[in-house]
Amino acid sequence: MKKLLVTGGAGFIGANFVYHMLDTRPDVRLVCVDSLTYAGNMSTLARAMADSRFTFYRQDIRDRAGIDAIFDREKPDAVVNFAAESHVDRSIEDPALFLQTNVLGVQVMMDACRSHGNIRFHQVSTDEVYGDLPLDRPDMLFTESTPLHASSPYSASKAGADLLALAYHRTYALPVTVSRCSNNYGPYQFPEKLIPLMIANCLADKPLPVYGKGLNVRDWLYVEDHCKAIELILEKGRIGEVYNVGGHNEMRNIDIVKLICGELHKPESLITYVTDRKGHDLRYAIDPTKIRDELGWVPETAFADGIKSTVRWYLDNRPWWEEIVSGEYRDYYERMYANR
Ligand code: NAD
Ligand code: TYD
Repeated sequence: MKKLLVTGGAGFIGANFVYHMLDTRPDVRLVCVDSLTYAGNMSTLARAMADSRFTFYRQDIRDRAGIDAIFDREKPDAVVNFAAESHVDRSIEDPALFLQTNVLGVQVMMDACRSHGNIRFHQVSTDEVYGDLPLDRPDMLFTESTPLHASSPYSASKAGADLLALAYHRTYALPVTVSRCSNNYGPYQFPEKLIPLMIANCLADKPLPVYGKGLNVRDWLYVEDHCKAIELILEKGRIGEVYNVGGHNEMRNIDIVKLICGELHKPESLITYVTDRKGHDLRYAIDPTKIRDELGWVPETAFADGIKSTVRWYLDNRPWWEEIVSGEYRDYYERMYANR
């Protein structure tokens, strides 16, 4: 049986990946490493913890000795690195933590892969490393050869990790792949991100804080489609390559927020325009031709269906996010949104 070490499995995409693999791949064992930052949640992993094919370690990826000990003990066949500080607004507040986890943590993971037999390593990255595209050039899309041009401390840290991963491949022949995905949505997303934040605020009849004029565009992908892309890259991706992942689903923020109001039968008068994010990227849009042509990946969930089931999930799983929004998240929200 193959053993896959997954970092950041208590977060949004990592947890969805854990369940995707447990539910569809009886031939795979999973070892999850997560330090449980504010974004990691053990209640998300409750069903996995009851599965004999799943093992969890509370462990920081920046801690070399701790990571080495887990590699010694578990001897994984491959590593997928989801662990990261992932929120742009927090990176504007505290860039140092982003560099430590998103760059130095990745270095620790890759060093462990090298010293334990040149283990296969996949880095989960983001389209944000390419910077942004103009709003009035729908013909322009990010390809894998678009120059890196990060705008925020978050995206700069992810770009740094991508470069380091590719350098480890070239210099040490570490078997590395990198995927750069567009914005994900779906179950278990932390309510600081646009879609779950708007759902939670709608349900509490709270103002819906739209940055700037709400005209920025993101390219949304259902999280399960991202998980399937990572599984494919792990198995069939060419070593040393980057794969863009996205589903040609560009939407303006304001249209997403109005759609959520509609789904929840809440008035659009809740929408409140607030001061824009510093350095706010205008538009992201992925060209997924390479992963489609080489690996046969295509997105399976239409946005109209994915957003309905995501809203349904937040309605059906209120205790999961209500516990989060009543905890230390309240201080974050106050800091980020009061007087904005
Ligand atoms: P998330 O913030 O929901 O989860 C991150 C997880 O990593 C948490 O469980 C947290 O506890 C863990 N973690 C953070 N620092 C750690 C450390 N030092 N050691 C061990 N664990 C640590 O993030 P997400 O949205 O699930 O994103 C996962 C990955 O996918 C990230 O690398 C992110 O850059 C990338 N990505 C995200 C999106 C998106 O739309 N969310 C899109 C493209 C790529
Ligand atoms: P976010 O979910 O933070 O993802 P990212 O910045 O990585 O794309 O934000 C998505 C978009 O929504 C982005 O353009 C910023 C905007 N946004 C708001 O307008 N209001 C909010 O409260 C949040 C969190 C985001």
